[in-house]
Amino acid sequence: MEDLSGRTAIVTGAARGIGAAIATALSEAGANVLITDIMDGAAQAAEIGGAFLHHDVTSEADWTAAIAKARDEFGGLDILVNNAGVFTLAPITSVPLDDFRKMQQINVDGVFLGMKHAIPAIAERASKWDGGGAIVNVSSVAGIIGSPMTTAYSASKGAVRLMTKSAAIECGAMKLNIRVNSVHPGIIDTPMMSSAINAARRGDEGDDDVRRRFAKQHPLGRVGRPSDIANAVRFLASDSAAFMTGAELVVDGGMTAT
Ligand SMILES: NC(=O)c1ccc[n+]([C@@H]2O[C@H](COP(=O)([O-])OP(=O)(O)OC[C@H]3O[C@@H](n4cnc5c(N)ncnc54)[C@H](O)[C@@H]3O)[C@@H](O)[C@H]2O)c1
Repeated sequence: MEDLSGRTAIVTGAARGIGAAIATALSEAGANVLITDIMDGAAQAAEIGGAFLHHDVTSEADWTAAIAKARDEFGGLDILVNNAGVFTLAPITSVPLDDFRKMQQINVDGVFLGMKHAIPAIAERASKWDGGGAIVNVSSVAGIIGSPMTTAYSASKGAVRLMTKSAAIECGAMKLNIRVNSVHPGIIDTPMMSSAINAARRGDEGDDDVRRRFAKQHPLGRVGRPSDIANAVRFLASDSAAFMTGAELVVDGGMTAT
């Protein structure tokens, strides 16, 4: 397993789902982890020996507080995982503009603000590590391919994909020694997927019918586990990925290979 001893990571939206799995994986690799969320994640933080901060990723003041907390609790920052995100399924003709904007605020502004505030802090001690500092942005297969009823979400995740590449090039050009990569999950079994099951139900389909339909979208024949994504994030955050920046790591059971 990758060794992240001595490093400090912020993982956003980590009170549950993929973020919680990422926080656990980074902690198991030896990192100090600051779990942040608008939901309470204090128990999870205590379980992995990390810290918790109430943090809305759309708030610039909250980002300042999160970086300050990483410094106060752990002495600095080395890894940022921009994981917090929201999802809805709705036909383009019925999405209220306010809902579209709200999704961009969380999924896009949140990632932008995270990189804006974390880059100077990560740069301070990036030279300590062979692979430098690391930012991992959680996008989606929806940032790569289109699908019905996901216009607002696709717009946001496509933005995350290309913001990642631009930030990677900029950090390289400025010799900051910070790598910036994105991860693109297929359908992953989390509370977000549970709400998608309700929205995706056709006729009198039960939950299991929808789950089977989701599973069939992946050539590996199943939906993903949060740990599938956490393993990829831990790799990108580590020195094992020292020559990777601006890359998109697809973790989708083959969905986008078809
Ligand atoms: N589950 C999937 O199938 C799937 C697929 C592709 C990509 N993703 C992406 O993975 C990430 C995690 O998804 P998940 O499935 O674990 O979702 P989830 O809904 O289970 O968890 C998301 C977390 O983000 C938090 N959050 C929401 N708005 C926030 C805000 N403004 N500030 C801080 N935290 C906020 C929530 O409180 C929640 O704890 C998201 O970016 C999502 O778009 C998920």
